[in-house]
Amino acid sequence: MSYDALFEPITIGNMELKNRIAVAPMNVGYAAPDGYPNDQYLAFYATRARGGYGLIITTAAMVNPYDWAGSEGMNPLKFTDYRYYRFWSEIIKAVHYYDGCKIAIQLSPGWGRQGHPNVGKPGVPSGAPSCVPLCMDLRDYFKKCKGNLKQMSKKVPAGTFESMDLDGLINMSDQEYFSTDFQQFLQDFLSQMDPEIYSFIWGDVPRELTIPEITDLEDRMAVQARDALNLGFDAVEIHSPHGYLIHQFLSPKMNKRKDEYGGSLQNRARFLMNIIRKIRKKVGPDKPVWCRLSGDELQPGGIHHDEQCLVAAMAKEAGVNAINVSQGSYEAMGSAFAPDGEGDFTRWAAGFKKATGGLPIMVPHFLTPARAEKAIKNESVDIIELGRQSLADPFWPVKVKTGREKEIIKCTRCQQCYIEFGAKHFLECAVNPVTGREKYFPELWLNDTTFGNRLNKAIKKMSGFPQI
Ligand SMILES: Cc1cc2nc3c(=O)[nH]c(=O)nc-3n(C[C@H](O)[C@H](O)[C@H](O)COP(=O)(O)O)c2cc1C
Repeated sequence: MSYDALFEPITIGNMELKNRIAVAPMNVGYAAPDGYPNDQYLAFYATRARGGYGLIITTAAMVNPYDWAGSEGMNPLKFTDYRYYRFWSEIIKAVHYYDGCKIAIQLSPGWGRQGHPNVGKPGVPSGAPSCVPLCMDLRDYFKKCKGNLKQMSKKVPAGTFESMDLDGLINMSDQEYFSTDFQQFLQDFLSQMDPEIYSFIWGDVPRELTIPEITDLEDRMAVQARDALNLGFDAVEIHSPHGYLIHQFLSPKMNKRKDEYGGSLQNRARFLMNIIRKIRKKVGPDKPVWCRLSGDELQPGGIHHDEQCLVAAMAKEAGVNAINVSQGSYEAMGSAFAPDGEGDFTRWAAGFKKATGGLPIMVPHFLTPARAEKAIKNESVDIIELGRQSLADPFWPVKVKTGREKEIIKCTRCQQCYIEFGAKHFLECAVNPVTGREKYFPELWLNDTTFGNRLNKAIKKMSGFPQI
């Protein structure tokens, strides 16, 4: 079966993509200390470029250089200043050698209350719009995503289940779940596994950012966006979904400010709009710049789809060329962030399409080419993104294009990627043991042109001699 709609080119700003298939932004935890990219990141992205993706969106790279930016332990990549540019330029080059694959950097001003600098730097609360701490309900997390439950069960030390049966946990009443004894038990147990996991569930109380700190972050986003494009990135994505810092400003549940950055939607959206305008001013009208928005926060009191559509419309006015769609936030992570099945996120595409007067819309959460093609043909989706499926099979696009669909290594939604990433800060895939180890298999990502013919000629001049 041919899936022609997936292989039609599309233009965003002045960037032409050869097809409609993108790697979704994913933190895979391979960064070197201090957020530097490395050989493994290069091999990870180049493998997927070779696999035929038209666009790779990097994991969120932090432009925020301050101690209060967020999680060090989750190993986020950084893009704070020139020290980070050298290795990124090698990655860009390796990706570009593969038949015009494009690469966008996802830039983040910080993790806000979803970050927890306290783990690495005791006494440092994260900077957020307001002092509202995160509280994830584990009952929801496990109930709605069986893969999370299965993986977490494997991590529990022998004997723990006698005192904490996860199925029992799901069915606990509020009274039992929030009782001091049970919360203390969870805290002890999870902190033992990993102090950071505990901080994911009950975040530290954040500190309210001052206005000079906010405008400083806006300026930093603009400078780093400009430098990223100058370095060779094809596009910039602003990291604004999932309850991270920009989303926290948007959400009435997380933003209780009384100044011009809080209250009305216009005020809550000011941080994002200033970032977009400041970037646009620095990079000119044609470069592809877009933001990622949760279609809906999916929790009471949060920002919902009607308001997010207004945000998308404002973002278009401020200068974005596309919208990347996601959903949920950490607090609503159970079903929201990376659910089972496929096609769940297409429900937000039509709203964003209409609100932005037809801007290109990118949507993740696919497994099969048939479902992906349906989204493009009938559901207002222009570019499909593969997140976990691209971890399972970096060669999905080429297999689909050459009629070898049956050979696709299928993502089973087992959530090992998430949980291993959380627990070990190094992502692995249950169905593809090569994921995370691509650097050891250059046959996957090196070919005659990867580093150019000049380099290949030079290598030939130096190889093949007997050992003396
Ligand atoms: C391990 C992992 C890390 C992720 N990190 C990011 C991130 O840095 N930025 C982002 O916007 N989304 C991130 N996501 C969300 C994905 O981009 C995607 O929206 C989600 O996995 C759902 O798509 P899927 O069903 O195709 O996996 C991450 C997802 C996974 C599995």
